Parts: sequence; C-alpha cells; structure tokens
Amino acid sequence: MRKIMSILLVLCAVFSLFPIAGCAAQTAETENRIVISLQIGNPMMTVNGIAAEIDPGRGTSPVIAGERTLVPIRSIIETMGGTVAWEEDTQTALLAYNGDEIRLVMDSPTAYFNEEVYVLDTAPTIIHDRTLLPIRFIAEKFLFSVEWDEAEQKITITKIYGDENLNQPVTPPETEEEGIASFARAVVVYFSATGNTRSLAEKIAESAGADLAEIIPKVPYTSDDLDYSDDQCRANQEIQSEARPEIEEFAVSVSQYDIILLGYPIWWGQCPPAVRTFLDSYDLSGKTIMPFCTSGSTGIDGSLAKIKELAPESTVTQGFRGTATTQEEQIEQWLKDNSYLTQSMVRVRLKSQSGDIIIKLNHNNAAKNFVNQLPLSLDFQDYSQTEKIAYPPEEIDVSDTERGFQPQAGDFAIYAPWGNLALFYRDGEYASSLVPLGSVESGEEWIAELDGAIQAEVE
Ligand SMILES: Cc1cc2nc3c(=O)[nH]c(=O)nc-3n(C[C@H](O)[C@H](O)[C@H](O)COP(=O)(O)O)c2cc1C
Repeated sequence: MRKIMSILLVLCAVFSLFPIAGCAAQTAETENRIVISLQIGNPMMTVNGIAAEIDPGRGTSPVIAGERTLVPIRSIIETMGGTVAWEEDTQTALLAYNGDEIRLVMDSPTAYFNEEVYVLDTAPTIIHDRTLLPIRFIAEKFLFSVEWDEAEQKITITKIYGDENLNQPVTPPETEEEGIASFARAVVVYFSATGNTRSLAEKIAESAGADLAEIIPKVPYTSDDLDYSDDQCRANQEIQSEARPEIEEFAVSVSQYDIILLGYPIWWGQCPPAVRTFLDSYDLSGKTIMPFCTSGSTGIDGSLAKIKELAPESTVTQGFRGTATTQEEQIEQWLKDNSYLTQSMVRVRLKSQSGDIIIKLNHNNAAKNFVNQLPLSLDFQDYSQTEKIAYPPEEIDVSDTERGFQPQAGDFAIYAPWGNLALFYRDGEYASSLVPLGSVESGEEWIAELDGAIQAEVE
C-alpha cells in the first residue's frame, strides 16, 4: 500500500509539470520546476519534497564508483519526462529526453550523446542486476542542473520547465568536479624545482599525446632551499621529516585520466616531498602511473617502491630516467615497452560487408576530431586501385596535425586538400598533404572490398 501511495505521489509530481496536471493544488514554485534529491546508500528519493522509492520494489540506492555517482536512472529520467530503453544483446541503455539521446554501454567508458562520442571516467555498470549510470554526465547532457552536497552525500537534480528555460542549463554544470574525459586519457603530471624535469615532461607529453599538469608547491623553492650539501636546507629537512608541502590545485581534473605519466627530480634517491603530497591528495586507484625522472646520476628504480606505497591501488610501470639530451625514440621505446600505446589507443570499427576492420588511431588532433564525429555512415569508393576513400559529412579539422608521409597498405589518413578519408590497401606514393590518422590492426584483407555505405564506430 505504501508503495502504491508513493507511486501516486511521484505521478502527482510528474503530472504537475504539464498543463493536463492530474493533481490540483500546486504552488507557484513547483509549477515549472522539478527537484529530485537522492542520497548515496538511500533507496528513497524526494521529488519536489515528496518521498518515493528510486527503484520501486528493488531497494536500489545510488553508489559512488571511482569518483562518480552512479544511480538507477529509470525513475529519474521518467520523472523528468524522458524515456529509458534497454538493449539486452548489446548491454546498452538508451536514454531519450527532449529530442536528445544518450547511449551508454555497460562497463564501457565510451558514451554517445546524439552523434558525439565521449569517454567517461567511470563506466556505467550492473550491480545486483540493476543498471547504474553516471548521473553527472546524463544530467549535463540533458541540461538538468546537479548539485553535490559532500557532507550529506546528497545529489540534487533540478530542471526548470518553461519557454525561456527550455534547453538552458539551470546552473552551469561543474565540469571540473565531474566532467568527461577528453580523447587523450593520459596526463603528464610533473614537479620540477630547477627546470630539468619540466623540459623532459614537455617532451614526453608531446610524444605521448598527453596533457600536461605541473605540481607547483604553494611556497616555491629558493636556491638555498635546494642546497642539499647543507643538512639544514628546506629540501633536506622536508625529506627527513616526511613533510608534505602544500601544492596548488591543478587546472585539469586528474580524475578524468587513466594514465598518469609522473615526472620528478631524484632527491636523495627518492621522489621529492611535493610529489608525495600529490600522491597523497588524489585518488589514483585503478590508474596506471608511469614514473620518469631527471637526476645528477641516480637511476629511477630506487624511487619506485615509495610511489607504489603511496598509490597502492594503482599500477606502477617501469620508470624512465631522462636527461637534457634524451631523444624522442628513447621516450617512445619506454612508452612502447610499457604498453602505453595499446592502453591509451582508441580503436575504430568499420563494419564492412565482408568483415569488420579495426583501426588503431594515432594520438593526434585530426584523429581526435575524427572520433568526435563517430558513429558515422561512410560511403567508400575506390581511388586509383590503391585506396578506398570516403567523405565525412562534416569536414575534419586537421589544422594542428603534422602531415606528409608515404602510406603503406593498412594506413588510414585524411587527404587535407579534399578532406576525404583514405584507407590504403596497397602502398601509395608520398604525399605532403596526407594527414596520418592510424593504421589497421585487423581486417586489412577486407579493405580492397569496401564499397558503398559502411558504418564506422568507436570500438
Ligand atoms: C635535495 C636534492 C637532492 C638530490 N639528490 C640527488 C640524488 O640523490 N641523486 C642524483 O643523481 N641527483 C640528485 N639531485 C639532483 C637532481 O635530481 C637533478 O639536478 C635534477 O635534474 C633536478 O631536476 P629539476 O631541474 O627538474 O628540479 C638532488 C637535487 C636536490 C635539490
């Protein structure tokens, strides 16, 4: 009976949004606004102050996974006036609201909003047979406002209805707190007191196609602070006392990355205290840490145990010691030896009539811009009995990407002057305007048979 009552109360709240309201008395405040409050671990929610079960009869509660809040979404979306559908075979949740659609695949970080591809930092998942989805991403895309009360562990979702507010965010979403990862899910986080590690960090970020974030101590180190021949210098004192000097907030949200390339100078064989502050302050569980250093002569290996101790839930790879003369090839070798490329590589599937073609994309802006157009239907035609070409519906921005290479069978590229995609099944001629996008990982034998409309999607 209580359940029926609460369903009726929710329906009352839902119908209050529309002119055909089924419930008579409404205050001015609730006429055009719906406010849903949820709490971590609590199976009840309130809709405009009225209590209701979030997942009627199932007792499912919102949970925190990674650093994100996952909720059983159906009643929330339906309360807002949207719909939720479930595709069992592909384990995909389809959420529709106000002409927009979100597709979320269970345990996959790839999400689709209409035609755009996003990489989530916490994948939707199924717990105890219930589908739990990332509320922040959904709310932002459907233009609901979301507020998070840390102390109360409470989420408040608000939507204001009315012509002037339709399709407008109620308040700006907090992208810093719970945003969407960009294509490059790797960041170089580094500390450098005198600039050596900074130079190496910049080179590594370039080679890895990763973002860059500096650990900046709130109180900068002077040259006296760094005079480690003096026992009393600040650096030595901090090491001896296991200090954690305060550091500035990053401009980027570290939680959105899967791989942290962590750079530091060796101080007495170890990573400096400011790096320890970083490791203590951020939840890096589930992430891969790739340490690198500069030093007078000491290697990096002796410093890795401390990194593992301070980030026990992370995977810490082999380290890399660089110098002012480190070459790009050495960095690439380290990245390769530690599976960096395979971990951070985005793959695209072309569903050809004969068989699927899987393409591994490069870490460049053109590839990123291409991925942002997926999923796509591409109309492939033969060109010069060497390559299959297709024109994307929207021009792909290649302005920030290096161009010019000799394509080999299996290479995927954009020919900049025409803007067409090109997938090579024979080796081609060097072309200065050819922008590399990636290369085929499997299914190369099907390229020559590509003909007509082919679906391309993120793998
Ligand atoms: C407090 C302190 C301790 C250091 N200890 C070592 C060490 O144990 N072994 C070593 O080879 N270099 C050591 N160095 C030198 C630095 O690792 C080296 O100069 C590094 O490249 C500086 O990087 P940065 O310019 O990014 O700060 C130490 C430097 C300082 C300031």
